[in-house]
Amino acid sequence: MTTKKALVTLFFILCTSIVYGKYITGNVTYDEYSLIIDGERQFIYSGAFHYWRLPSPSLWKDILEKLKAAGMSATTVYFAWSYHSPKSHVYNFEGVRDIDKLLNMTGEVGLHLISRPGPYINAETNAGGFPGWLVSSLKGLARTDDPYYTAAWEQWLSAVDPHLAKFQSPYGGPIIAVQVENEYDVGNLSAKYMELLEAKFRKDGIVVPLTANVYGDRSTWTSGPGAVDIQGIDSYPQGFDCRNPSQWHAIPTYFAAEHAKYNPTEPMYNPEFQGGSFDPWAGPGYYYCYELTNSDFERVFYQNQIAQGETMLNFYMTFGGTTWGWLPFPGVYTSYDYGAAINEGRQLTDKYSEQKLMANFFRVFKPLRKMDSIQVASPTNPTLYLQGRENKDDGTQLYILRHRDGTSITKETTRILIQGILGDYEIPQEDGTYILIDRRDSKMLPCFYSFGDQYLVYSTAEMMTHTTVQGDSGHVDVALFYLGEMQYGELTLYFQNAVFEPSIQVFEGHLQNSHWDASRNQLRINYQQSQVIRLMISSFQQRPLYLILASREVAKKWWNIESNEGDVLVSGPYLVRDAKYTDDGGLHLRGDTEIETLLKVIPPKPATYLTWNGEYLENVKQEQPLTLVANLRGPPPVYLPPLDFWKFKYETFEKEPSFDDSDWVTADKNHTNCPFKPITLPVLYMDDYGFHVGDVWYRGRFSSKEAVQGIVLTGEGGDFSVYSVWLNGHFLGTANNGTETFYFKRDQLVSEGDNVIAILLENMGHDEDYTNTHDKWQHPRGLVQARLLSTCSCDTSDIPIYWKIQGNLRGEEYIDSARGPFNNGGLYGERHGWYLPGFPDEDWEQVILPHRFSDAGVAWYRTTFELDIPQGVDASIGVRIEDKDPSSRYRALIFLNGWMLGHYINYVGPQHFFALPTGILNPRGSNQLSIAVWGQQGGEGLSHVALETYAVHLGGVEVEMVYSPDYKELFQ
Ligand code: GAL
Repeated sequence: MTTKKALVTLFFILCTSIVYGKYITGNVTYDEYSLIIDGERQFIYSGAFHYWRLPSPSLWKDILEKLKAAGMSATTVYFAWSYHSPKSHVYNFEGVRDIDKLLNMTGEVGLHLISRPGPYINAETNAGGFPGWLVSSLKGLARTDDPYYTAAWEQWLSAVDPHLAKFQSPYGGPIIAVQVENEYDVGNLSAKYMELLEAKFRKDGIVVPLTANVYGDRSTWTSGPGAVDIQGIDSYPQGFDCRNPSQWHAIPTYFAAEHAKYNPTEPMYNPEFQGGSFDPWAGPGYYYCYELTNSDFERVFYQNQIAQGETMLNFYMTFGGTTWGWLPFPGVYTSYDYGAAINEGRQLTDKYSEQKLMANFFRVFKPLRKMDSIQVASPTNPTLYLQGRENKDDGTQLYILRHRDGTSITKETTRILIQGILGDYEIPQEDGTYILIDRRDSKMLPCFYSFGDQYLVYSTAEMMTHTTVQGDSGHVDVALFYLGEMQYGELTLYFQNAVFEPSIQVFEGHLQNSHWDASRNQLRINYQQSQVIRLMISSFQQRPLYLILASREVAKKWWNIESNEGDVLVSGPYLVRDAKYTDDGGLHLRGDTEIETLLKVIPPKPATYLTWNGEYLENVKQEQPLTLVANLRGPPPVYLPPLDFWKFKYETFEKEPSFDDSDWVTADKNHTNCPFKPITLPVLYMDDYGFHVGDVWYRGRFSSKEAVQGIVLTGEGGDFSVYSVWLNGHFLGTANNGTETFYFKRDQLVSEGDNVIAILLENMGHDEDYTNTHDKWQHPRGLVQARLLSTCSCDTSDIPIYWKIQGNLRGEEYIDSARGPFNNGGLYGERHGWYLPGFPDEDWEQVILPHRFSDAGVAWYRTTFELDIPQGVDASIGVRIEDKDPSSRYRALIFLNGWMLGHYINYVGPQHFFALPTGILNPRGSNQLSIAVWGQQGGEGLSHVALETYAVHLGGVEVEMVYSPDYKELFQ
């Protein structure tokens, strides 16, 4: 190793142990234009992300760095009450629930954070974020000022607020706003409730602005009792039906008017603007949601929000993640990919790149933070629609051009008239050229804009970013514009003090034309976009301007990363996470490659050497002008082992009459707090007995043989739930959610002693309370009715059934606090640790797939596999589960190293591929996969299970393994 290399390595060892935070601190205020932090106007470009949908804290950093690298300034996070509270008065903020770690990381990465602690959050999660224990204990009406409900949420806020308070911006943390409730603008509204929440936040030390999101009545919390500091409007213009992804809905245009009407003294805010869509069980799959909200949608719809004056925008979701365990509400399956910009496997999509173009522009184009709408002339092509904004302080303008009919897919050309402080221009001026709006398209054109030492009169290309760098012979302004390939670009610059025509030196590609207007000191350049055109414009009186005119696709490969010496422009790598200079003039870049890559760097000041992920880069070459070029390695191939050999065991012991249920809970309550009362007594709602998630067993005993011929059951587990029924060990069938009659055969009944009815029911999660009207989230889970059918027309109510119930091991006192309250339901194997690494399965049968088992009920498949992913490689891995018979009626729970990461329903779908987050997945060591299969008819089993990668990169973040107690720790 050379001395330099050794030093570089030492530097990196030191660096990894030092937190070089980019904390953005300051007092948060606002006015009608924008949020203001320490007196500086902000443009809030936020990507929503839920830490609880990524149960590997190291990977939070991966997502946060990806948001930051896109040029975004913030993230918006729901804090889910249910995730932290297994039991009334019990709160857990450790391990995967360590929100201090999340808040710390967010600050280190340099993002602001908008905190949304509910209490109600919706979010397609179980009971909309209300904890399981609240479902059964709540006596009053949720989301009102009811005293029982108030006492409940006070617990939660008292637990979470201290964390939020200490990480607020004024104290050096990332939190710049706290949202009160969630879309609380329909149903049983209580201003008193809002006031109580607000008072509690303030009492607990929340000093940043309080916000609200509304989707219905947009006047709700803008004035009067319960009003918040900043109210914003949520918008999902494409809706949530992904089946017809090419169909576009109208572009919403009411935001500015609503703002003027209801809250003109607050900045315009979209707490949630559509970033994708959730997908229900049996839905088309996330590929379609991605298409529904693809990069064209982003460009057209997001730019339209800018045109209306939004300066605070949060996209829901930017990384959706995984609704693992029993976290989903019944409307969604495990994957919460959301068709978002960063997919569930943490990969950057084209939607991410499109947002990167916009977010970078908003970051540098500061006059946007204080603009007013201006009247503009119609474009020469009347099918197009032009909107304009202007900053009255400096005259900067922004024009946004799109189809008048937002759903149009025609190809249109036009000129537009811009009118600003340097006069009127119909652009483009060059004969035979035009601005193109091609199919679903929109363009955002900065005009009369001064940056660095330059003055841009206008550009018909869009701007991604600009910066100023120190070259070998002085400072140079650098700007990057982009345009669709083959489109015409025209850019006019004003040189206030120029005596002579500025000179142009082209390094790559070519210009069509340039024109110096000496009377106005304006230089116009014209070009037709090839992949890249690079040129330097120099005049004696001001700094040179280095222009990179890139095609949209090439621009998407550029990054503008903040370093301690100014912005670093980088092109080539899949991702650039960080850039930092050391005192010796070395520039240290951190990022990811997917293949061998040509790295190009425009540093803010000359760099004496470059490193990439701590490795000294040899053969760094200088490319004219200002650019350092080097080669980066791609990742090595990654080997994933086949999952050939499985251990197998059938359980379902509970169905047998001889099964010992003496330690089960007796279900004999005659009263429930649930607003939906049972049809028969006793109450058989699982929540009333302390079991809130997953599968639940019932065993009922009755002693009459002669009088009964069957049983009428109503099982409620939410959409796509089922329940299987056995009598004295005989399988009677499996019913869908709802009411079903099961008939007994005479020889299945015993005349001596008890008959035992055993029922296994799946709770798909509790509903949400989206409409805040009927407390739907408290809809019962479990049996609502259990009534014996008499052989005659006589009444059977005098034949009592004595019920026992069993859910997850020890209910609210569950044993596995690392994995938490959503990991397990009440299957026998779950109650006995069959899902855990280290469970002794030596005496189980050895099987290979495909494999079927004959009896209905639950059986387990277990296998272990070794991974040896090289250090420094980020392999994002998932498990695929498929069956050649898609009608085979079984469902499965997928446990990796004891974590329930997937709920699969073979005959419902659509999910077949399940993310296995690194950290729970051990990339360099042994992993244990347990799959519990519930055969609903008999003859089902696993067919095909395989590991696959989403993608492999050289880079990534350092991943610490998540504490995952094994069988020994939990059961012995
Ligand atoms: C919003 C809600 C979010 C989420 C979203 C749809 O109305 O505030 O929590 O449910 O809809 O994904």
